[in-house]
Amino acid sequence: MRWGSRSLLSLGGAALVLLLQGQVVLSDIPITATDKESLKEAGKTIIEPMWDFYLQNQTEGIPGKLTGTWYIAGAMFMTMMQFWHVSGYNEHNSVVSHDMMFQAGRNYDYFDANYSQWLGNDDQMFFGLAAITASETGFPEINNKPTWTSLARSVFNQQVDRWNDEQCDGGITWQIHPWQAGYTLRNSISNGGLFQLAARLGRFTQNQTYFEWAERIWDWSVESPLIQPEINWYVADSTSGDNNCQDSGDMQWSYNYGVYLAGTAYMYNATEDPKWKNRTQGLLGRLSTHFFPQNYDNHELGGKIFCEVSCEKLHTCDRNMLNFKGWSSMWMAMAGILVPETYDTVLPKLQGSAAAIGRQCDGGSNGENLCGSRWYQDTWDGIQGLEVQQAALGGITGTLMMLVGNGAQTIENNPDAKERYLDYNDDQPDSLPKITTGDRVGSWILTVLWGSGIVAAGWWLIKQQ
Ligand SMILES: *[C@@H]1O[C@H](CO)[C@@H](O)[C@H](O)[C@H]1NC(C)=O
Ligand SMILES: *[C@@H]1O[C@H](CO)[C@@H](O)[C@H](O)[C@H]1NC(C)=O
Ligand SMILES: *[C@@H]1O[C@H](CO)[C@@H](O)[C@H](O)[C@H]1NC(C)=O
Ligand SMILES: *[C@@H]1O[C@H](CO)[C@@H](O)[C@H](O)[C@H]1NC(C)=O
Repeated sequence: MRWGSRSLLSLGGAALVLLLQGQVVLSDIPITATDKESLKEAGKTIIEPMWDFYLQNQTEGIPGKLTGTWYIAGAMFMTMMQFWHVSGYNEHNSVVSHDMMFQAGRNYDYFDANYSQWLGNDDQMFFGLAAITASETGFPEINNKPTWTSLARSVFNQQVDRWNDEQCDGGITWQIHPWQAGYTLRNSISNGGLFQLAARLGRFTQNQTYFEWAERIWDWSVESPLIQPEINWYVADSTSGDNNCQDSGDMQWSYNYGVYLAGTAYMYNATEDPKWKNRTQGLLGRLSTHFFPQNYDNHELGGKIFCEVSCEKLHTCDRNMLNFKGWSSMWMAMAGILVPETYDTVLPKLQGSAAAIGRQCDGGSNGENLCGSRWYQDTWDGIQGLEVQQAALGGITGTLMMLVGNGAQTIENNPDAKERYLDYNDDQPDSLPKITTGDRVGSWILTVLWGSGIVAAGWWLIKQQ
């Protein structure tokens, strides 16, 4: 939103009026993409309208259940925890924590009977990735509930049980039930999501079972048409089981690259096997050229600008696609941090995008700084909602992760999680280890810090160093 006739009093707290060299710029979010404080402020500004959308769009007030979708809330929790970890901003932590646990459902498996009839593997996976994000960031555990790590393991265990050799020599299908359309389809986000979760659980716990599965899913993905290293690291969207995975659905989506990319980066960081570095660099190369088109290079802002090229220019992105850039930005940042040789490739793409996000997020008629979908366009493009806010937050978070530079924790940094992890019994998911009040000094401290409003993230960051 450029300078208009609105009264300054109508501007929300987030909107800023800058008087620079006589030029009046109204309500862009001012972002200096090299400055951590500036990025933190921008993230907070973006969260506020996102949070309003979240509260308004809950189905009949069910915590963490959005009307018309289930997984997008899980993906939002994942993004908010990652932002909290690098910014210390904990304003909504207690609700994120509660709602994310609530949606684990009655059996703590992210497969509650309310939804399990129509969930796909990829839907469930976003909550699995949110749960491992909670583990890695030291997001506070909840008294008398399973740990975040055990929830992530539950998703992993369910999905590897769905490994399906009947067609295509393996892979997991997109949908879970034979009666669902798409049951025989094997897609990249489902298989790539399980691959990423396996790699992250492996690095977090050092349990070899996860690494073995990560190897297996990767190898299968390359043998199928999903990942084609020989064609410049092409990643297809899907392949059809009915045709024994001979064909491929060729729409190009950033999250299919990003989801595998973060997995290869975790594998390299954990194993130091050069083949994983090679794979990280290969996927990153294609992602960086295809989704950061040259004509959007922004010389004024510096760097490149992320574009979901298959739908954004024509405004044909659906509510799922509107999110992709946000997740992919964070996954690129994981690669940049965990495989330091890729840092310089990732940084200008995320910084250029962050600067551009500040200009795109000047929407709404009341100075509420709504974000739109086209980061390359310097005023709001009119798209609004939780999804575009969440994508913008992911873009800012990815950039901040690069500047803060701390990789994910492992269980060794988190004695609390380690102890309960060792108690975990895969055969009895109902008896997931629960945290009991006062059983650990560490969790007690966290609770107090959290309760008193002290930034728990800061504590974790200090503890890690
Ligand atoms: C399942 O649906 C019931 C009825 O709408 C609701 O009360 C409950 O909170 C839902 N549970 C979850 C996990 O969404
Ligand atoms: C490693 O993880 C697998 C899969 O979750 C589990 O079955 C196994 O018990 C774990 N091993 C150890 C030593 O914790
Ligand atoms: C849900 O969010 C959309 C924006 O994506 C908004 O237009 C709509 O009004 C919201 N629905 C409700 C019931 O508030
Ligand atoms: C693993 O990641 C850390 C950052 O968390 C980095 O310092 C380290 O160099 C990485 N290890 C390898 C083998 O690249």
